[in-house]
Amino acid sequence: MAKLIIEGGHTLKGQITVHGAKNAALPILAAAMLVPEPVRISNCPRLTDVENMAGLLRALGCRAEWVEDDLLIDAGSARTAELPEGLAGSIRSSVFLLGPLLGRFGAAEAPYPGGCDIGHRPVDLHLKGFRAMGVKVDEASGRIRCLGRPKGGAEIALEYPSVGATENLLMAACGAEEDTVLVNPAREPEIDDLMNFLNGAGFELRREGSSRIRIRGGRRSHGTAHAIVPDRIEAGTYLAAAAITGGHLLIRGARREHLSALLTALREAGCRIRLEGTDLDIEGPERPRELRRLATQPYPGFPTDMQSQMFALCTVAKGTSVLEENVFEDRFRHGAELVRMGADCLIRGRSAVIRGVKHLHGAQVTAHDLRGGAALALAGLRAEGITVVERAERIDRGYMNFAATLRSVGAAIRREDD
Ligand code: EPZ
Repeated sequence: MAKLIIEGGHTLKGQITVHGAKNAALPILAAAMLVPEPVRISNCPRLTDVENMAGLLRALGCRAEWVEDDLLIDAGSARTAELPEGLAGSIRSSVFLLGPLLGRFGAAEAPYPGGCDIGHRPVDLHLKGFRAMGVKVDEASGRIRCLGRPKGGAEIALEYPSVGATENLLMAACGAEEDTVLVNPAREPEIDDLMNFLNGAGFELRREGSSRIRIRGGRRSHGTAHAIVPDRIEAGTYLAAAAITGGHLLIRGARREHLSALLTALREAGCRIRLEGTDLDIEGPERPRELRRLATQPYPGFPTDMQSQMFALCTVAKGTSVLEENVFEDRFRHGAELVRMGADCLIRGRSAVIRGVKHLHGAQVTAHDLRGGAALALAGLRAEGITVVERAERIDRGYMNFAATLRSVGAAIRREDD
């Protein structure tokens, strides 16, 4: 296990370059299973979840190896469609393999996926979509067993624009002989990056307006090279770090069009943000202003993956903020940890009322999930005294070299691994 030790009170100054997006890399690595030739993934972040996914591909008989910062995957030798118990159960992204395995082999089997504790994370929408494609899905004995090649020719409406279900279903549909249309798909940019990868490998997918994706059937695939889209949540987390410390950072390599809702909220909090090409120049205020109402929504609404970081910012705002978490049912566990640091907040169901305090004080706190852990570290950057964030290995799931990156722009932060 790991912990972060942070001495607060240092404003951040300098520049940070964002890496490739975790939530694009995971489905794209899974999608490589659809392609029986070598693919080269560049700008791929070296995160624990990504390493785990590469491990799953190897367990299925694929070759997956790093060449400098690129991940080379060859699924030509993939021989089985059954995920091993041990590893697969540990990460939610193992469920992303069901779609490509169905598309490639017409069969897929996996244990129910794990995940971090922000909610019970069902996969009913994924399985409902597979069944709508004529796949036989059996959920007995705690495993998910799917059998049958996905049939095209259908319009499949998602009752909720689930990111994972959209990705799984469009990957399964790549194996169908006829076209499939997904109705009410998720609109997150990571899905467009997945589609770009698949199109580069010979498949044909495209959005038809904002509420439909058409996946052409009967396409044959070939090897390809793809660069992962920049991580909008990593960029957003470091923007929030500048905001909470009253610092001045240049965040390089992000796609500003993926950050509109966040930039609006940061400006409301009093940040001055200048856009310069793919660089974002942000200056945080001496003390942030409250966010009167911030509600997480599917993209392009305010991202749930930035809720905990903005929660931390609101704890030291001048007034009272109201946050609504509309995507996950249990994503406020960082609230209790922030109270240990002197925050004043009231959490009821999906709403949090946060009355800003002038000062937080350092405390020993626990990261319950990767974004909540990052939020506690941000609070520690602002708090008076020393903050220790336990279970910091959970932060590694979404951030490369998190402590070193913050230290490089002036934070007094170090990591201890047990
Ligand atoms: C993806 O999770 C991301 N993970 C999450 O990022 C992100 O928070 C989420 O999308 C929303 O943007 C990856 O891409 C690996 P959903 P996913 O399916 O696919 C419910 C992070 O911090 N739902 O859009 O699981 C679900 O319970 C992680 O990087 C069903 O009810 O998100 C949730 O309440 C956390 N049935 C809501 O939909 C289903 O079959 C959104 O889930 C599927 C989902």
